[in-house]
Amino acid sequence: MKKNYQIAVFPGDGIGIEVIREALKVLCVISESSGTSFDLTHGLIGGAAYDTFGTPFPGESLELALGSDAVLLGAVGGPKWEGLDYSVRPERALLGLREKLGLFANLRPVRVFEELVAASPLKPEVVRGIDIMIIRELTGDLYFGKPRGVRVEKGQRIGVNTLVYTEKEIHRIAIVAFKTAMQREKRVVSVDKANVLESTQLWRDVVTEVSRDFPEVDLRHMYVDNCAMQLIGNPAQFDVIVTTNLFGDILSDEAAMITGSIGMLPSASLGAKGGMYEPIHGSAPDIAGQDVANPLATILSVAMMLRYSCAMEKEASRIEAAVQEVLRAGFRTKDIHQEGTTLVGTAAMGDEVVKRCL
Ligand code: IPM
Ligand code: MG
Repeated sequence: MKKNYQIAVFPGDGIGIEVIREALKVLCVISESSGTSFDLTHGLIGGAAYDTFGTPFPGESLELALGSDAVLLGAVGGPKWEGLDYSVRPERALLGLREKLGLFANLRPVRVFEELVAASPLKPEVVRGIDIMIIRELTGDLYFGKPRGVRVEKGQRIGVNTLVYTEKEIHRIAIVAFKTAMQREKRVVSVDKANVLESTQLWRDVVTEVSRDFPEVDLRHMYVDNCAMQLIGNPAQFDVIVTTNLFGDILSDEAAMITGSIGMLPSASLGAKGGMYEPIHGSAPDIAGQDVANPLATILSVAMMLRYSCAMEKEASRIEAAVQEVLRAGFRTKDIHQEGTTLVGTAAMGDEVVKRCL
């Protein structure tokens, strides 16, 4: 087993900086106890990079990411940069990393911790025990399709984005979904809008074709509007959800709320080589720098990094168990705080996890 990993760390903007700090504390204790070393190199992306280099995604950050075993990322963006041209918005860095590293499979596990059942806006009996893996295609769809842009024709502006999927792109994400399901409850729901969009009829056809190689997995197809409804009404029916880039973006935020807070959800973006790990929440500029952000999503992203990029399953599970213990002990950041629990800040929450990883 490898004993040394190169990790590119991009805290980004807003609360990204604070949550990454806590996640690195956890990585540090894991390093000591496992004897595996992590060479951490910090880089700038997003608004922070724009302010320094005039671009949200400098070449040196790309080089750093390409030369690393894994990328750990906080969050990008903020009102300060919202007026900028699309080409230099902080979000371009995230999309650029996904594209350049070929990270086509985005894994977003949605787990309701028993301790947080009451923090969900849904009824306890609806959310108890929820454990869904959302697999979002990450390098296709309207996000990257061409043509795109706003042009003027006959005196009026026309905005265009293109929803395009190749057979190959659908095929490889379907394989990830079925393989993931084989490790879980062997159920896949593929989400599309095949009743209206031809490109997603192709999605449905290719997913069905791939399913023949996984006869043990139960495959169902669902329209995205119905899925949005089912996630609220009966989320327990889902094991693995596989869907397109845009639908996955929307459905994963919706599913995150089931867990009580978007501050709890980690993610892994995987490609042929390497991986990128980040919380699914954004930079939350309204609470940045106040020591109130929830670092657990980022800490859980470190667990995913150890699992998928470092073959350190035992250590990944240890972090996940530590998070659960912290919740059981009653510690809560503001987003998940409820009467009878102990309100802690970002750094204190990180410390509580660290103690339980030792
Ligand atoms: C996400 C985010 C990004 C996306 C934004 C920040 C570009 O919402 O990772 O879900 O839309 O993919
Ligand atoms: Mg999103």
